[in-house]
Amino acid sequence: MARDLMFQAEIKQAVRQAYAAISSGGGATVARRLYSEQELAEVPSGAVDWALGVGNPVRYAPLRPGETALDVGSGAGIDTILAARRTGPAGRAVGLDPLEEMCERGRRHAAKAGVEGWTEFVRGEMEDIPLPDESVDVVLSNGVLNLSARKSRALAEILRVLRPGGRICMADLTVEGELPPEVANDQSAWAG
Ligand SMILES: C[S@@+](CC[C@H](N)C(=O)[O-])C[C@H]1O[C@@H](n2cnc3c(N)ncnc32)[C@H](O)[C@@H]1O
Repeated sequence: MARDLMFQAEIKQAVRQAYAAISSGGGATVARRLYSEQELAEVPSGAVDWALGVGNPVRYAPLRPGETALDVGSGAGIDTILAARRTGPAGRAVGLDPLEEMCERGRRHAAKAGVEGWTEFVRGEMEDIPLPDESVDVVLSNGVLNLSARKSRALAEILRVLRPGGRICMADLTVEGELPPEVANDQSAWAG
């Protein structure tokens, strides 16, 4: 049986529903596995509680003051806020997420962190990023590319918005080998 038999629209819908339905993130226990105490102290507790990532892309970026960072699939904003702390007010941090409720959480957390002046959360998808060509220095992403049924398209969009010499720093899940069809075609496996 061929893999990936689900239609792209169904995968997108399943992912959206899954993230719209959750009422909390991984919590501080999960966040402590990915971020240092010092990094966690840089973000409000709400953003820590809502951490849903699989790594710590900001740590490895590394971001410089004045740069523009884009956090693809920003969720409630933990990495966007960490990025904003590093770009400083001379730079800009943009979180991108298709769910308005995630963007709202990000805005609230950015305001609590005091970085709202140079941080924004934009509703949109990684497959169609609502930013101009060559407008970003660093693209960050934490546990998001794996959710796309159109990964090549998402990567092409990321390359489009990056300035020449720009960087991508991404933490994600990868699959080695073939997934059994009952997993590849399972909606909760795609979203989870
Ligand atoms: C696993 S969570 C990670 C959230 C955040 N990066 C973090 O580390 O806490 C995945 C996020 O990607 C968002 N997402 C789902 N599909 C997306 C898409 N097509 N483009 C951008 N973000 C997407 C979800 O709404 C969710 O907020």
